[in-house]
Amino acid sequence: MAWIGEIDLGTRPTPANDKALVSLIIDGQAIEVPEGTSIMRAAALMGTTIPKLCATDSLDAFGSCRLCLVEIEGRNGYPASCTTPVVPGMVVRTQTEKLKTLRRGVMELYISDHPLDCLTCPANGDCELQDQAGAVGLREVRYGYDGRNHLAVEKDESNPYFDFDPTKCIVCSRCVRACDEIQGTLALTIEDRGFASAVSPSQGQDFLSSECVSCGACVQACPTSALMEKKVVEIGTPDRAVVTTCAYCGVGCTFRAEMRGEELVRMVPWKDGKANHGHSCVKGRFAWGYAQHQDRILNPMIRSSVDEPWQEVSWEEAIAYTASEFKRIQAKYGARSIGGITSSRCTNEETFLVQKLVRQGFGNNNVDTCARVCHSPTGYGLKTTFGTSAGTQDFDSVEQADVIMIIGANPTDGHPVFASRMKQRLRQGAHLIVVDPRRIDIVRTPHVEADFHLQLRPGTNVAVLTAMAHVVVTEKLYDEGYVRARCDWDEFQDWAEFVGQAVHSPEATEALTKVPADLVRDAARLYATGGNAAIYYGLGVTEHSQGSSTVMAIANLAMATGNVGREGVGVNPLRGQNNVQGACDMGSFPHEFSGYRHVSDEATRKMFEQAWGVPLSAEPGLRIPNMLDAATDGEFKGIFIQGEDILQSDPNTTHVAAGLAAMECVVVQDLFLNETANYAHVFLPGSTFLEKDGTFTNAERRIQRVRKVMEPKNGYADWEIVQLVANAMGLGWTYGHPSEIMNEIAALTPTFKRVNYKALDEHGSLQWPVTDAAPAGTPTMHIDAFVRGRGHFVVTDYVPTDEKTGPRFPLLLTTGRILSQYNVGAQTRRTDNVLWHEEDRLEIHPVDAEDRGIRDGDWISLRSRAGETTLRALITSRVAPGVVYTTFHHPDTQANVITTEYSDWATNCPEYKVTAVQVMPSNGPSEWQQSYREQAAHSRRIAGHVAAAE
Ligand code: SF4
Ligand code: SF4
Ligand code: SF4
Ligand code: FES
Repeated sequence: MAWIGEIDLGTRPTPANDKALVSLIIDGQAIEVPEGTSIMRAAALMGTTIPKLCATDSLDAFGSCRLCLVEIEGRNGYPASCTTPVVPGMVVRTQTEKLKTLRRGVMELYISDHPLDCLTCPANGDCELQDQAGAVGLREVRYGYDGRNHLAVEKDESNPYFDFDPTKCIVCSRCVRACDEIQGTLALTIEDRGFASAVSPSQGQDFLSSECVSCGACVQACPTSALMEKKVVEIGTPDRAVVTTCAYCGVGCTFRAEMRGEELVRMVPWKDGKANHGHSCVKGRFAWGYAQHQDRILNPMIRSSVDEPWQEVSWEEAIAYTASEFKRIQAKYGARSIGGITSSRCTNEETFLVQKLVRQGFGNNNVDTCARVCHSPTGYGLKTTFGTSAGTQDFDSVEQADVIMIIGANPTDGHPVFASRMKQRLRQGAHLIVVDPRRIDIVRTPHVEADFHLQLRPGTNVAVLTAMAHVVVTEKLYDEGYVRARCDWDEFQDWAEFVGQAVHSPEATEALTKVPADLVRDAARLYATGGNAAIYYGLGVTEHSQGSSTVMAIANLAMATGNVGREGVGVNPLRGQNNVQGACDMGSFPHEFSGYRHVSDEATRKMFEQAWGVPLSAEPGLRIPNMLDAATDGEFKGIFIQGEDILQSDPNTTHVAAGLAAMECVVVQDLFLNETANYAHVFLPGSTFLEKDGTFTNAERRIQRVRKVMEPKNGYADWEIVQLVANAMGLGWTYGHPSEIMNEIAALTPTFKRVNYKALDEHGSLQWPVTDAAPAGTPTMHIDAFVRGRGHFVVTDYVPTDEKTGPRFPLLLTTGRILSQYNVGAQTRRTDNVLWHEEDRLEIHPVDAEDRGIRDGDWISLRSRAGETTLRALITSRVAPGVVYTTFHHPDTQANVITTEYSDWATNCPEYKVTAVQVMPSNGPSEWQQSYREQAAHSRRIAGHVAAAE
């Protein structure tokens, strides 16, 4: 699959529900197009390209450049084809002598104020202005170039990823409109009028200091080199493109990786991408430089003790050593003494192989995944209530939503491309309810304002949702017909009786949740009666001791109001990492095979035993925290960790470190020498998403291809490395390509039955279940009935967390992420994204800051019962009094040092979102932090030493 550029039909398609066809004649040819189509698009559909500059098919028609004029029989003048819709029987001419003259005249004016440096311009060969000048046959500029012009205006090079060169700007407004219509940030404007008109970020600021979030939509929309990627300026225009999928968040944007030779020039969001429809955020679009970063470890390393420096070895030696250590440990301590951790960043195929290595090769079920610390309650809660451990909708569904409820998620930072879709729908008039302890951006952003922000006290999700359910039940706002037809009516009645108790009313719970009762009442009424109501939630729901209860409380509310099973409604977890859905689907949990089938299920186990030729254990294996416990107890001695930094991402760092230190063989496979590698005996270099084939599954259950655009710098793709380890342990795997792994997944997993690479290439992507009954996938689930049969209402009693505030720890800490950074920052900190977030800061309310004598930017110590760290303060009323907030992207901060050991009752998902803390002024980084920093620097020095010895 290699092509460059995409066809631009000039104007947007008409809405899918606009089905009536209109017949017309263009240049003597008859054509039928949907009503509402522009003449420009109709012509383009039949292969006739009308010259254009201000139009592009990702934006609303604007009609400003006047290059796209046409003649229409029976009409006076020369209407713009981009803004003129087709009419039945219309006869259009796109190329006449008069039109040629008019277009040349327009183009002449543009070019008279444009630098004539095409040969040295970075857009040379990829410039619409150049193309259109050719298309209209411009041969001379009669006005000369000596009059007033804009050719001396200075470039804005402030953004690390793209430049703005106003001398190349033709003031077509495509950038302004892209920022408004696609991204929804409204960071750009056309200042002034007439000759003085100019594009300006914000109020005459440069791009970097404006509210621009560097999504790149304006750069993509610009028809000239006025907005241009710095990489294109540096390298030149690309000559081929490969479509692949972003490796950052669970939105799963697809991109054209545009290459010149083996060099990646730019990532351009793919218009046909079904998750992103041609949009992107700063991470996927620009922050891929980590793949080439000098910190990447490219050669395997081993050491017999973690106190020794690493020794570089050949791949053969590293793999043989790994296999022999695992065998030695099992011979000495038993089959259950080793295990593995799969990665939500790796492909489905790689994840499948790691769990297969554990089950088939290690002979146990000791496999777990990082979803343990994020969305495991989603798996439990949605499977229990609906029957499937996944979201119910596709992203497009939001276009049919009348009420959007966001709970414990921050889409503009965590899932930015989907947030832009949401904002488009909200600007069209949908209502918004936000349930979050913090005033996240979407509560109030240009042209969007939440109807209700329920700013609850961290840890009280279940109480707020039960209070909303109380209103639904006591005010009889539930959908009885739906519940009787689709759910278990007896269970509903039990649940209704429970939530209807006075003790669960908004008034009774107000003191606890800190949300005014009338707000809860009004929000519940809106959700239940406002039309199609869709819930989107994130880690602010799951990472609690009541994470699973909250997921089920959400499901209860959706079922009671009939909001599951059609477009525009549903319950949708916004997944953090690119393949967290896939990692869960692939059997990464210790109790489940792929497709969420319990290991004790005889028939499923037999099927895998037959395929893999070994007996498999029916006993669930150890979860990550249990592996670490068993390690400190001396029973668990070896682990294979692919693409995870559990020392940074898991709770209670001290406990994780103790568990790892107690093991005899820790094998870490990653791109960089991460913090966990400080405790490793074997380091196997990983490959990036650019260097391998495979698939990722996004938050919509959408399986999408990841395609290799360059050879692995470390020598092997990750799936090959797992295969090498497996074969060194005697498993005899013979996969020649990830497509063969997918074939095995499909053969063993009913929901993936019709998934294969050919089908993925044909459809672009597939949303599971992909079965004989649904070979093209399933965008909306539970349409006629819930997957489990009848929807299951679960009584979700509010049980307060054991983590309590008190005189010593009077504040509640909650955590989250920021747009420019990703997870523990291993990738984004190695890109220019650090410009937007150099360090984690603690947000604190002005009242709490004043009480403690803390000023903005002061160093503060953040102390909990578990530990202490130091960071700087950011005083803001985004957080309520009594609540503080920080991000966790920088290892120096080590936010997880202070989080507790409390976890979700059903899944052990850590309670990251509620920690009782005290905040006090500090003189700077604590002693502990200083030593941590030195340790990290030491690891880096060793890595540097190894690199120098190459
Ligand atoms: S990069 Fe995105 S946010 Fe920034 S100005 Fe362009 S469209 Fe707007
Ligand atoms: S910067 Fe580009 S897109 Fe924006 S007005 Fe100028 S030419 Fe048009
Ligand atoms: S929204 Fe997510 S998937 Fe899309 S470009 Fe950004 S990080 Fe990548
Ligand atoms: S393309 Fe139609 S007016 Fe510019």
